Amino acid sequence: MKPFVFINVAVTADGKMDTFERKGAAISSARDKARVDRLRAESDAVMVGGRTLLDEDPKLTVKSEALRAERVARGLSQNPLKVGIVTEADIRSDSEFLSSGAAHIVIFTTDQTSKAQIESLRSRGVEVFVHESPRVDLEKALHTLYELGVERLMVEGGGTLNFELLRLSLVDELSMYVAPMIFGGESAPTAAAGAGVARGAAILLKLVHSEVHEDGGVVLKYQVERST
Ligand SMILES: NC(=O)c1ccc[n+]([C@@H]2O[C@H](COP(=O)([O-])OP(=O)(O)OC[C@H]3O[C@@H](n4cnc5c(N)ncnc54)[C@H](OP(=O)(O)O)[C@@H]3O)[C@@H](O)[C@H]2O)c1
Repeated sequence: MKPFVFINVAVTADGKMDTFERKGAAISSARDKARVDRLRAESDAVMVGGRTLLDEDPKLTVKSEALRAERVARGLSQNPLKVGIVTEADIRSDSEFLSSGAAHIVIFTTDQTSKAQIESLRSRGVEVFVHESPRVDLEKALHTLYELGVERLMVEGGGTLNFELLRLSLVDELSMYVAPMIFGGESAPTAAAGAGVARGAAILLKLVHSEVHEDGGVVLKYQVERST
């Protein structure tokens, strides 16, 4: 068993989720940020990949006080569970990911993370699962999250994690905000990276919702069909 898994991503019109500088370029509009905040508030857990976690250090908290209060009124914690998928969990102890907001934190990692780092994470209440594989076993991680009570999981990138989850048929839905701008750049990350698939194995999507914002941004929601 696994949670309902949806990816949310913000891309430019040329499909980039950041510039070649990889500094977490702003893509979402204010209206889109409010949409993303609601998606977070409606989720049991929010997941990011290792590069996003270590390089961007996202807070992954619900920004709106009203949405946090709504969660509490429903008997939930203020913020959803934060989940990191990271091969070597060399996470700074003063990171925003670990420190910001009241939230339970779960890290899935491998034995490339030092015992000292694992102990340090556990001593501050982080739940750490160590997989004996070169990278985190995503199927196993989703099963563990389901057992921890996560029924609705929001994945917030990056492209490498997105692609692996899609390739393994672990994603139910994909939401994207397409901003009216272009970054270009061969090395600029796209919404789904990894090794890619040949045309015959394309992961097919069914558009279930679309919305055009006044600033020209577009929100697209797809159901993920199986590969061809
Ligand atoms: N616009 C947006 O919505 C958005 C959202 C999030 C991120 N971003 C951008 O995306 C970029 C980062 O994306 P990214 O593709 O480089 O990295 P990523 O997807 O954030 O992280 C991928 C890393 O996670 C680790 N990992 C461990 N087990 C894994 C598994 N089973 N499958 C996949 N990864 C696994 C790997 O580390 P090792 O390689 O060390 O094994 C892998 O390189 C940044 O520029 C960030 O700003 C944009």
